Amino acid sequence: MSSDREAGPMGKVKVLVIPGMDPVGDWMADVIKLEQDMACLGLVRDLAQALETVERLAPEVILVDIGSGILQRTEILSRLAAPASGAAVIVVAMLGEVDMVRQAMLHGAQGFLLKPFSEAELLSSIRQAYELVLQRRAEMPKRGIPEQAESIRRAEVIAVFSPKGGVGCTTVAINLAVALRTLTDKSTILLDGDLRFGDIDTALNISSATNVGTLVSQLDEMDNQLLDRSLIPHKSGVRVVVAPPHLDMADAIRPEHLRKLISRLSELEDGYVVIDAWSSLDDCTLSILDKCQHLVVITTPQVTAMRDVHRFLEVLNLLGYGRSSTRLVLNHCYHRSEVNVKDLERALGHPFVQEIDYSPNQVTASLNRGVPLVQEYRDSAAARSIMRLAQYLVESTDARPTLDTEEEPAGKNEKPKRRGLFSQRKTASA
Ligand SMILES: Nc1ncnc2c1ncn2[C@@H]1O[C@H](COP(=O)(O)OP(=O)(O)O)[C@@H](O)[C@H]1O
Ligand SMILES: [Mg+2]
Repeated sequence: MSSDREAGPMGKVKVLVIPGMDPVGDWMADVIKLEQDMACLGLVRDLAQALETVERLAPEVILVDIGSGILQRTEILSRLAAPASGAAVIVVAMLGEVDMVRQAMLHGAQGFLLKPFSEAELLSSIRQAYELVLQRRAEMPKRGIPEQAESIRRAEVIAVFSPKGGVGCTTVAINLAVALRTLTDKSTILLDGDLRFGDIDTALNISSATNVGTLVSQLDEMDNQLLDRSLIPHKSGVRVVVAPPHLDMADAIRPEHLRKLISRLSELEDGYVVIDAWSSLDDCTLSILDKCQHLVVITTPQVTAMRDVHRFLEVLNLLGYGRSSTRLVLNHCYHRSEVNVKDLERALGHPFVQEIDYSPNQVTASLNRGVPLVQEYRDSAAARSIMRLAQYLVESTDARPTLDTEEEPAGKNEKPKRRGLFSQRKTASA
């Protein structure tokens, strides 16, 4: 199979579907046919025909339903997903088939979709997979010549995320950044990754024309010095990048812009880049999760948050994110609850690295006054817990070997590599 392919017909992304037994394959084909920038090359119902069809039609994205029996023919899957096929493979599975998806990813599949999924999710996954194909093509000519040195990452990137909204991510992200700066005196950059509804500016009483939107649009023309000077200094010593002021600007930001911005910020100085991520797992949030070395996942003891976090941890596990980089935090943000922490840890299958105490008066006052909790209310129980979380992160950062590439090293008992939603993202754009 040749990987040196032309762009799709009339610039369309060429998609091939290998369906399962249910009607989802036909539905996907119908959705793709209606898209102006995509072409559905057809459905391959007989797996034995798959390689020959791919050779003949040269798809760029292949949607493979687990129900097609592909896991009984993993040699076919490996060849479909290999760079030489010129295509990226997305596996389609039921929510309960997480183990099978993991197996498919181990055989090279680059992405997955869990049923039921929406048209928007399908199209967005296809576009992201196509992006990977383009990146691979761009890298092709470089083969055979020595790899260029990767940009040096100097700061640790810490993302604060929860699949459940309103559980304290912004509170933790802001105060974690200030705490890290206080403890280490190292450069600390706080980035509002909640592009549409970010409120770090209000929480820190900052008003600035520079924001994620303006930075990503000028990034290619900015050298590191200029980028450094564009960050908004806060009196805590933390430097801030606030969210865009309108939805239009937020919606124009693509995942690759955000990845590039995070890379550039992490190159500036030894220290930390703390990102407050939005609770939706959209492409921009996924790019943040891809780029961070420490993922602080927040839950509350409430059953709904626990359920969402449990599902999210399952997905992380599937993607091969090392347990070592996921820091689970229990935030008592609604009331002081008498919960058995061990029971919660057992339910999630993951230990908490820190509990954050309930301090409603001080947390509310800090937000209302636009001042950091860990500075102005440093004696509150919540502030002290966030300081301990920062201390924990400093210690685990110090214990990590210094890396100058994106990938985690393979630990003794760890999976060989941490992979993103779409693996092999080490590209010129990231
Ligand atoms: N440890 C805590 N104690 C008391 N209130 C808290 C605590 N953590 C968060 N809160 C409150 O919970 C609400 C949601 O917090 P926020 O940080 O905005 O969450 P998110 O960013 O996840 O939506 C805020 O009103 C905040 O005051
Ligand atoms: Mg928030």
